[in-house]
Amino acid sequence: MSDQEPTFPPAFRWGVATAAYQIEGAWDADGKGPSNWDTRAHRPGGLAGGATGDVACDHYHRLAEDLDLLAGLGVGSYRFSVSWPRVQPAGSGHWNGRGLAFYDRLVDGLLARGIEPMLTVYHWDHPQPIEDAGGWAGRDTPARFADYAEGLVVRFGDRVKRWITINEPLSVMHDGMSGLPPESARRHGLRMAHHLMLGHGLAVPRLRAHTRGGEIGICLNLAGFSPAGNEPRDVAAAARAEVYEDRLFLDPLLRGAYPELDGRPVVEAGDGDHAVIAAPLDFLGVNWYAPARVVASASGAFRYTRVPVPGAGTNLLGWPVAPEHFGALLSWLRANYPDAPPIQITENGFPDADEPDATGSVRDPRRIEYLRSCLRQVHAAIEAGSDIRGYHVWSLLDNLEWDHGYRPRFGLVHVDFATLARTPKESYRWYRRFLAAQRRGGTEVPGCSA
Ligand code: FCB
Repeated sequence: MSDQEPTFPPAFRWGVATAAYQIEGAWDADGKGPSNWDTRAHRPGGLAGGATGDVACDHYHRLAEDLDLLAGLGVGSYRFSVSWPRVQPAGSGHWNGRGLAFYDRLVDGLLARGIEPMLTVYHWDHPQPIEDAGGWAGRDTPARFADYAEGLVVRFGDRVKRWITINEPLSVMHDGMSGLPPESARRHGLRMAHHLMLGHGLAVPRLRAHTRGGEIGICLNLAGFSPAGNEPRDVAAAARAEVYEDRLFLDPLLRGAYPELDGRPVVEAGDGDHAVIAAPLDFLGVNWYAPARVVASASGAFRYTRVPVPGAGTNLLGWPVAPEHFGALLSWLRANYPDAPPIQITENGFPDADEPDATGSVRDPRRIEYLRSCLRQVHAAIEAGSDIRGYHVWSLLDNLEWDHGYRPRFGLVHVDFATLARTPKESYRWYRRFLAAQRRGGTEVPGCSA
């Protein structure tokens, strides 16, 4: 198959994304302290298959090889996160010089290869002492987080111009709610949500103070909700889902107030808090994987349940494969948040069980097809008026998919977790050709039959 790929604006930024706990390993090396995820993974029955991030992709010790994979791909942007317990093991006070030096090497290595760093301050791993003080439900965590963000920008702000405060506050909130009965899950979750927003809002001016011409944003995972049918209770359930998932963070960030249900804001917050949270942003990071179709349900903290999307298959994680819904989400954003800052697609990817074939090559045509379809949606949204400035594939490497362990593989590069050997997949070569074609102004490139 060969067909014309859309041509994106010349200044569009192309990249890939990763996160510290998912790839670095070296969990106790060079003065790093334990994190909430280390503790969780080390607990019996912690992550699927007994997985831990102790070694993961061993990126910490294989930095040069991974930088070369990035350079070989031809990306202009690399989104990564800093492990808070690696650089500030107690979550306050002392900074670990050896941990900071790793990120110096990473940032300098990117810049030397002409790749712009995009730094996520928090991608879910925090020092265990922060967890012991209540994690994001703890009252001091927002202030600790803002101090940590400032420490990073003081160190790296001369070289890193693009900053993301928090990755997917919604996922952090849901994670904290799991296992609790509905009433307390809701209360606990919304308290965490508010603290995440405060931490973000407190960090923004401190990041800005130390970056000249820097761009500061946050990443939200947005789905795009629809009811399974016309039943009023399901329509109401979809509206609730939209409030508790897509609007819970968009509204305080971009409209200065939490969304309302039944005439009341879903989170009670003081006026002062609203002003902190709504600190102006330079971009909105959007992570998108799948849409959500819901029905009303008696159980669950927010009283709705996801159901299959008609006509869509599911991927290895059971998520609907429905790239055409990406465009719907982007047009919903355009219509509902006309004053939003420019968008960066900060994650988009496809999980599968990729393994090398007898010849040693890793063929992943389903990932290629999914990414191509998503890119067409992004391009159409730009044509329709969305201000989208960049796109990052999740992920460079197969890695530790949190609770799911190592089975779902999202990488453009296969990692053999026994030997840690890296093998670029067919999708890596496809993305490389795609990016080369974009640099030439979008000349025809071959599609999935690489
Ligand atoms: C997102 C996370 C990222 C990765 C992908 C698959 O929710 O931000 O770390 O796990 O999902």
